[in-house]
Amino acid sequence: MKILIDNADIQEIKKAYEYFPITGVTCNPTILKRTGRNPYDVLKEIREFIGADGDLHVQVVSAKAEDMVVEAHKIQEVLGKNTYIKIPVVREGLKAMKLLHAEGANITGTAIYNQMQGYLAGMAGAAYVAPYVNRIDNLGYNGVQVAKDIHDMLKHAGLKTEVIAASFKNSQQVLELAKYGLGASTIAPDVIEGLIKVDAAVLAVDAFTRDFEELCGEGNTMLNI
Ligand code: G3P
Repeated sequence: MKILIDNADIQEIKKAYEYFPITGVTCNPTILKRTGRNPYDVLKEIREFIGADGDLHVQVVSAKAEDMVVEAHKIQEVLGKNTYIKIPVVREGLKAMKLLHAEGANITGTAIYNQMQGYLAGMAGAAYVAPYVNRIDNLGYNGVQVAKDIHDMLKHAGLKTEVIAASFKNSQQVLELAKYGLGASTIAPDVIEGLIKVDAAVLAVDAFTRDFEELCGEGNTMLNI
């Protein structure tokens, strides 16, 4: 399962890339709003940092399919033809996906709250579909199960579409989906940090250091003994 960062703060993105095996960046209009800057200025910085071949997912905001397509062209023009165009899986969004798929665009179906949305987006040509795991949980349903079901439905249909699960609030949600073999998860920085918060491991490393220093002297490592 690929791990992407769901964020638009370039400093947060750089920090996460430095430490974690992250392969791309996703964002949505709400995430862009948090930057308080012109979205294209922000996104161009991100594109420059992750490189021309890096996975970048950017959402359209138009309401009508034809306008979504025009918006997608502008995103591709500014940020690269390979940029994944995030399209909400609503009626107009499905139409836009079919039109953009016919052009060979990279499409990510987003705002997915149930299995049928994910399935339809796959059938309409999306390369990725993004169920909102935690938001589904908050509605009283099982977000992890919805993501797993969509994964299965896409595989049963023989589609290449992968699930890129989104909207996580804890490590357990991510772990469950990694175990199931999902294609990708896009995760906010605080939840990414939580993936490696293992107190027992930190304590074990402290004990190893103490023992080594008792044997070889304070501050020494395998480098200088
Ligand atoms: O892009 C979808 C995802 O960012 C939603 O996450 O945390 O707002 O539920 P969240």
